[in-house]
Amino acid sequence: MTIHFVDLDSQYQSIKGEVQNAINGILETKDFIHGKSVEKFSKNFATAQGSKYCVGAANGTSAITVALRALNVQPGDEVITVANSFFATPEAIAEVYAKPVFVDCEADTYSIDISQIEKKITSNTKAIIPVHLYGNPVDMDALMKVANKHNIPVIEDCAQAHLAKWNGKGAGTFGAMGTFSFYPGKNLGAYGDAGAITVQDDKLHQLVAMHVNHGRTKKYEHDFCAGNFRMDGIQAAILDVKLKHLNDWTEKRRELACHYESILQPLGFKTITVKKDARCVYHIYLVEVSNRDEVTNHFKSLDIQCGVHYPIPLHMQPALKHLEHNKGDFPVTERAAERILSLPMYAELTKAEVEKVCAELIKVAKK
Ligand SMILES: Cc1ncc(COP(=O)(O)O)c(C=O)c1O
Repeated sequence: MTIHFVDLDSQYQSIKGEVQNAINGILETKDFIHGKSVEKFSKNFATAQGSKYCVGAANGTSAITVALRALNVQPGDEVITVANSFFATPEAIAEVYAKPVFVDCEADTYSIDISQIEKKITSNTKAIIPVHLYGNPVDMDALMKVANKHNIPVIEDCAQAHLAKWNGKGAGTFGAMGTFSFYPGKNLGAYGDAGAITVQDDKLHQLVAMHVNHGRTKKYEHDFCAGNFRMDGIQAAILDVKLKHLNDWTEKRRELACHYESILQPLGFKTITVKKDARCVYHIYLVEVSNRDEVTNHFKSLDIQCGVHYPIPLHMQPALKHLEHNKGDFPVTERAAERILSLPMYAELTKAEVEKVCAELIKVAKK
């Protein structure tokens, strides 16, 4: 029987009635755009994440673009981020014609190596984007210390970090803004594209709200050209249903991660390190192996699904070759990209399935 990497159907079956009611509600009210549905979800998500405000957005990529625009990042400016992330992080920086400046990741947490940020700061640095990758929160106390010392605003890429916390405080509430993705496979996933921006400052909140919506002050009055990056009402209604379940689903992920850990760690496998003050939400659960192709072929033969997040480090992406990086520039990220393997992880996965995945991994994996 298939062991899925992510099983959107089992989740849907458990909330089918609620979701269908929510969608029908929007079809009845025609609350498609600008409606109460987006407002309600944004408020509820802000509360869940511990943020003062939340603005719905079209997706997680445009949420980062909007955040950069709200900080007035200009062509030629530099934005520091981590070499180990999904492509959308530097892509959004490039979208505002700024230059992504990469920092290597740590070998244990796979997050931005904060000790290397300061030497990348120049007079052109206009923002820092740490990524709470895999749902494992960055040490935001240490990161904010560096950013505040140089007076550089921070945008937290929280695309994989719904309900993640550092030191008891929600991801996306430390920096000027946090950006979220509700891509269907995320811990909180829409049934289409959706995203959000968390904001703490009143003025910045207004600015972000304008940046997602044509630079609009009121109907047919526009202060600046911004574009349309709004969340739609149906997605907001679905997300609001799912948000009620998110804490339970997150606790299940954490239990499953613990189960993986209890089997793999005593055998000496390298898995993700979660720092003492972090509440990791395990969007991804990964293990390092030196013979990844062999393991994935073995899994394939047994219908066990897995993934790699991410096989090509950002500085080696063809789309970013103008940055003129070479192999060897970010050795920790490069080594991880060759060795990491993402194992099945979703709330409905059973402990028996975790045990089966581990048993098959152990048969063929080399450390
Ligand atoms: C770290 C990270 N940043 C940004 C994004 C972009 O989100 P979206 O796919 O909603 O545009 C993703 C989505 O996969 C992501 O994982």
